[in-house]
Amino acid sequence: MARRHIVEVEQFDRNDLELVFERADVMRQGAPETLRVPSKVLATVFYEPSTRTRLSFESAMLRLGGSVISTENAREFSSAIKGETVEDTIKIINGYADAIVIRHHEQGAANRAALVSDVPVINAGDGPGEHPTQALLDLYTIRHELGRIDDLTIALVGDLRFGRTARSLAKLLTRTTGCRLVFVSPPAVPMGDDVRQMLDTAGIPYTDTPDLKSAVAGADVVYQTRIQRERFATEEEYQRSSGIYLIDASVMDAMKPKSILMHPLPRVGEITTDVDADPRAAYFRQAHNGVYVRMALLQLLLTGDWS
Ligand code: NCD
Repeated sequence: MARRHIVEVEQFDRNDLELVFERADVMRQGAPETLRVPSKVLATVFYEPSTRTRLSFESAMLRLGGSVISTENAREFSSAIKGETVEDTIKIINGYADAIVIRHHEQGAANRAALVSDVPVINAGDGPGEHPTQALLDLYTIRHELGRIDDLTIALVGDLRFGRTARSLAKLLTRTTGCRLVFVSPPAVPMGDDVRQMLDTAGIPYTDTPDLKSAVAGADVVYQTRIQRERFATEEEYQRSSGIYLIDASVMDAMKPKSILMHPLPRVGEITTDVDADPRAAYFRQAHNGVYVRMALLQLLLTGDWS
């Protein structure tokens, strides 16, 4: 594969995962001198809202000794509002930065950016498409919390149609062995056929169930997600899918003692805050892991260590 850009999880084979995860373990202790990238500049260009993804990329770059330039509301505050294409914007930023992290509202936009860019482009979410670095930090979190990424039962809960993090994680799980997936989604937002086909090809079994408690009872990992309000055609359609699957203390009671609850965040009520005190609630640790994984990815891309 071309390891110049990170556009989709399909680019990562099992060896790549081991490399990224081992390097993230090193970064957890602080970047050693040999893995720093001083004099390199990262541009973060976000056409959609973000807290974790943008700030963790920027924190990662600063912790590697590099610098950051940023436009956080590119849809309104960049030349996009004047009608500039993504392609033109990227060509311009090529003269300002050594790598570009882009989040865009259109599926495929990161790929378009990569096609015209001489510097590495990292997809930080392209509409309802993919969010590959989130999937990497999610799988890294599973490895860190449970000590393995194989032979696990993983329940994906919530908006599996528009939720790019659940889509990317399910695809990345094709790089594991012995895992089983359980999909728990409102009827209007099931997991897409493209992901199901990838799982079929990889021999990863999956089932759908409307029964949250039975799904979590058998799971090693419960991955809750937000219903993606901004992707529904009408507020009415959003309301029909929202509020159906809530994780509260009674759902935690049904989970195995040695399991974890994850969420890419932000949450908007789908995990009650009293659950935060449960040691199995891993979502804040998950968000923090984003810095180490993104340090590893930036270092690998910017130094050509990954080619
Ligand atoms: C997610 C996203 O933007 O896809 N957030 C994130 O990057 N952690 C999830 C979401 O918005 O629901």
